[in-house]
Amino acid sequence: MKNVMKHFVSAMALSVGLAASASAEDVEVLHWWTSGGEAAALNVLKDDLSTKGIGWVDMPVAGGGGEAAMTALRARVTAGDPPTAVQMLGFDILDWANEGALGDLTPVATAEGWDGVVPSALQAFAKADGKWISAPVNVHSTNWVWINKAALDATGMASPISWDELVAVLDKMKENGITPLGHGGQAWQDATVFDGVVLSMGNDFYKAAFIDLDPAALGGDQMAEAFNRLIKLSSYVDSNFSGRDWNLASAMVINGEAGMQMMGDWAKGEFLKAGKVPGTDFVCIRFPGTQGAVTFNSDQFAMFGVEGEGAVAAQAAMASAIMNPTFQSAFNVVKGSVPARTDVPNDAFDDCGKKGMADLAAANTNGSLFGSMAHGHAAPAAVKNAVYDVVTAAFNGEYADGAAAAAALAEAVAAAQ
Ligand code: BGC
Repeated sequence: MKNVMKHFVSAMALSVGLAASASAEDVEVLHWWTSGGEAAALNVLKDDLSTKGIGWVDMPVAGGGGEAAMTALRARVTAGDPPTAVQMLGFDILDWANEGALGDLTPVATAEGWDGVVPSALQAFAKADGKWISAPVNVHSTNWVWINKAALDATGMASPISWDELVAVLDKMKENGITPLGHGGQAWQDATVFDGVVLSMGNDFYKAAFIDLDPAALGGDQMAEAFNRLIKLSSYVDSNFSGRDWNLASAMVINGEAGMQMMGDWAKGEFLKAGKVPGTDFVCIRFPGTQGAVTFNSDQFAMFGVEGEGAVAAQAAMASAIMNPTFQSAFNVVKGSVPARTDVPNDAFDDCGKKGMADLAAANTNGSLFGSMAHGHAAPAAVKNAVYDVVTAAFNGEYADGAAAAAALAEAVAAAQ
């Protein structure tokens, strides 16, 4: 393995000059972008690469949040046959770098000045030991709510900006005969909702609990209240929610069967794919009580060790294509996310995208930008999985109350470290 890596690293270094003109060479790409909106965004990437002579071998592994994809990746690496490029989140990237499995994108990153344009919050996951190990394609954030505009208008209320207003809108939607909350009962979706709920208890609290993993915050009164809120939200889903895919929950909001969905901004990709217009057909708001703060995750493409100059050059060319500002605009307009570079104009983005870009920049400056626990940017996978277990159990009514859930969370996170 070491020799292969050595060869890989030096070939990568030699290949930067070839990057722009790499001859037709395939990249096999493992990803979990299988919904309608995600596939549309993926096509922007595939088409861009094909104009550069880079062939695409698709390895889709369905499952939002990427858990199934990461299991499939582990199997491929164990079999000694890793894919060339892998969609990956946060701490997972650093874990693979620690295992020595990733290549070195530093030559292409240096040649193109990535250090100066990629926000430091992303560089924290794109670099290890001072070397670039992955190319960030976007920044998503999880503390969003997507509301059917007609359903909101029918409540006679404004977009909620506090917990109490949110509950009032949800109650009214119930009275109006629709499912207030479109949701899919899968651990990562429950955890995505919980990102917003925990953040709504305060920025300092989110940081103490989910970034610093402070046992007092994880098991204390504020966490108990956060779980009580989550349990309350679980009362607004329909009876078929269990196991439903996230994009089907989006579809419920799109067609008016449900009032709103609490989901990352990949949900916007589904609304756009269905021809819906922000402000007219749907409304995007920050999870009530989290205005001004952002819980983010960034999809990055990590490159695994491959042999052969052509293959390595194709990886560098793919990384270069991903980091191109024009591509970052075109891709993220469709994906629902925002660019992973600070120098991309917002002209092509709709109002939700413009808000996403402005919120990200402001949160970054104000110290209110935090990694998403649900999407692998707050803590390593073992902790994340422990959080998933407790959050899902709470959502499904397995604890007597929020305090019992908070106690279980503190215990589970301690055991996972
Ligand atoms: C990824 C998104 C993806 C979503 C749902 C998230 O973890 O960052 O790109 O659309 O999962 O599959």
